[in-house]
Amino acid sequence: MRVGVIGGGLMGSGIAEVCARSGVDVTVVEADDERAERSRAAIERSLARAVRSGKLDEAGQAAALEHLAVTSTFEDIAGSDAAIEAVVEDEQLKRDVFKRLDDLLPDAKFLASNTSSVPIMKLGAGTKHPGRVLGMHFFNPVPVLPLVELVTSIMTEPETVEAVREFAEGTLGKQCIDSQDRAGFVVNALLIPYLLSAIRMYESGFASKEDIDHGMVLGCAHPMGPLRLSDLIGLDTLLAVSESLYDEFRDPASVAPALLNRMVEAGLLGRKSGRGFYDYSK
Ligand code: 3HC
Repeated sequence: MRVGVIGGGLMGSGIAEVCARSGVDVTVVEADDERAERSRAAIERSLARAVRSGKLDEAGQAAALEHLAVTSTFEDIAGSDAAIEAVVEDEQLKRDVFKRLDDLLPDAKFLASNTSSVPIMKLGAGTKHPGRVLGMHFFNPVPVLPLVELVTSIMTEPETVEAVREFAEGTLGKQCIDSQDRAGFVVNALLIPYLLSAIRMYESGFASKEDIDHGMVLGCAHPMGPLRLSDLIGLDTLLAVSESLYDEFRDPASVAPALLNRMVEAGLLGRKSGRGFYDYSK
């Protein structure tokens, strides 16, 4: 099996790592050589971490690297059996990627998007074969979290869904849940209003960020509190998902707090930029 992953950021590099570790030949496409190099370095670091924690042996690490290619040339994925798009949450950019994938991979079994906010139908609509387009939504960190949401548009063929389920569960060892093509799908529709209300709580001075986070870790056994989790997801992504939830449902719980807008405008995007609610620069 040969898969192209478009976008080698936080999610794309995680998806590519999981593919390579499962014996899938994977080619990551990035926008330029510098980003491609950063993506390869992130995957190599994550593989080294898995070796250190005893989850992967050195032979497994070497095998995974053999299955991995990283490029800045889109056409390098020609001939792939499938593609997974994981570029930033920009609707027009994603639509352009799907148009290119549709033209470059006429025989691919499926064209999946890891989007957390763009309706799958909008991506399928610009292709000649919307029946093979669907959402394959992974969770961060991708090598750790087992869930994949399978999102079917009103045009996705049942055979496409079953092929992707077999790939996600049988090949990658993930577990799937099914969702209709609605903003937020299942998990983000529940998670994002919770994260936004934690930001509102902090913004209003109701409690400190540390106490909000400790409260949910110690009182509800969450692995991390909501502000730290927002930093992990990326505040730009959180903002994009909240906007798409609000566009679809007009629920005041999905309105982004002013503080979130200001932080994104300031480039404080969380872990990936070195600073969000917490400082990660050291
Ligand atoms: N890549 C690979 N492995 C990682 C990793 C990463 N980025 N981060 C952590 N790990 C592994 C570690 O190697 C470690 O493995 P080990 O137990 O074999 O040693 C294990 O995960 C635990 O890591 P740590 O001991 O360093 O730290 P924690 O125990 O605090 O776990 C965490 C870190 C896995 C991030 C955990 O806090 C967690 O699961 N947090 C919640 C994450 C979450 O909710 N994600 C969903 C976000 S929503 C989303 O992605 C959707 C999007 O559309 C918005």
